[in-house]
Amino acid sequence: MRFSLVNRTLLAILFIIFPAVSLANEVEVLHWWTSPGENAAVNVLERQLSDKGLKWKDFGVEGGGGSNAMTVLKSRVISGNPPAAAQIRGKGIQEWASLGLLREIDDVARKEQWDAKLPEMVSDTLKFQGHYVAAPVNIHRNNWLWVNPEAFRKAGQKIPETWEDMFRVAPKLKEAGYIPLAYGGEPWQASAIFESVLLAKGGAEFYRQAMVDNDPAALTSKTMIKTFKAMARMRGLFDQNSSRRSWDQATQLVIDGKAAMQLMGDWAKGEFLLQGKQPGIDFLCIPAPGTKDTFVYNIDSFVMFNMPDEQQKRAQQSLASLLMNADFQRAFNQKKGGIPALDLRADQEIDSCAQKSRRDFNRSMEQGTLVPSTTHGMAAGERVQHVVSEVVSQFINDPHADPTKAVKQLSLAIQTLK
Ligand code: BGC
Repeated sequence: MRFSLVNRTLLAILFIIFPAVSLANEVEVLHWWTSPGENAAVNVLERQLSDKGLKWKDFGVEGGGGSNAMTVLKSRVISGNPPAAAQIRGKGIQEWASLGLLREIDDVARKEQWDAKLPEMVSDTLKFQGHYVAAPVNIHRNNWLWVNPEAFRKAGQKIPETWEDMFRVAPKLKEAGYIPLAYGGEPWQASAIFESVLLAKGGAEFYRQAMVDNDPAALTSKTMIKTFKAMARMRGLFDQNSSRRSWDQATQLVIDGKAAMQLMGDWAKGEFLLQGKQPGIDFLCIPAPGTKDTFVYNIDSFVMFNMPDEQQKRAQQSLASLLMNADFQRAFNQKKGGIPALDLRADQEIDSCAQKSRRDFNRSMEQGTLVPSTTHGMAAGERVQHVVSEVVSQFINDPHADPTKAVKQLSLAIQTLK
């Protein structure tokens, strides 16, 4: 978050002069869940909030991955009028908390024993200086490949388990009339593919060195060059119309049998389910090529902004408590596609993809192969996230781009931010 000390003081003053105006029983929540599947999940939240006597004031900002939402949030905060709650993930939670704008929710967390209910790696991301400042709703897995099995039957091909398999089957899928990989050319979608390829090429330890520690040796390594070389080959998997397509429009291509696959987090499952598609029959969820023993995670969570009004504070407490309710998380994630953030067993999950996700999550946690998503701000802060997305998407968009130069550019840009 790029707020200086002077700005912080200014923000504190603005909060006093222009306190947020909201009706007492109304909670305004900023989020970026605007696709049809995401909307269905938001409806669950809205309904369950209303059962508690609270009114959901929707502040949805279009744009998958959330960067538009973050821009809008900053301008609301700068004008001294933050929403009661906002969807913020990973390192962003610490960045916002360090500005002194977030409300601690330890009272709810202590009363409802969040420490005992959440895996430690989840609760750690929700705390600032040991205090809870965010409530989670789920754990998403990003390294999923969504497959239309009929495309593979018709093309007479096996579903790819490695990137080499992927590049081999792509021409066959094209001959059979399918787009091999549905993609939308937004920078965050490019970055999402990149992190799965990086993981496949380097493994979990290398991924952490490069994306969490931003180690210059890892960032300039041969593995990094290999990753960009694979990204260059990726262009042959997309169709001509991919630029500016949203992630859910890309998912729709797989649902409609126009594309064979999509690499996307499990919010994509929400779109399949909403249209009555059955996992294991109409669509398959397979770990992204070469990443079956790893799990790239992303935790959706909400922070509460400091509000002077006592009734607003109570409404925020009720929201935080609802978000961590086990029944709510189950109902919500049935629509949203993730798994509850609460410590559960696989057989407590709703569908076969969620069961697999839970099994893989638990196993990766034991084996140390759980890695934070870079694209969704879990591995590093917003600026590194932005640089990775921009460099990778420019690389994909330029058919003449040189992998070695792109590696240097990325490493330099990340080092400059340090
Ligand atoms: C969020 C998901 C959301 C996806 C697409 C991710 O950053 O964590 O909850 O569904 O973006 O908008």
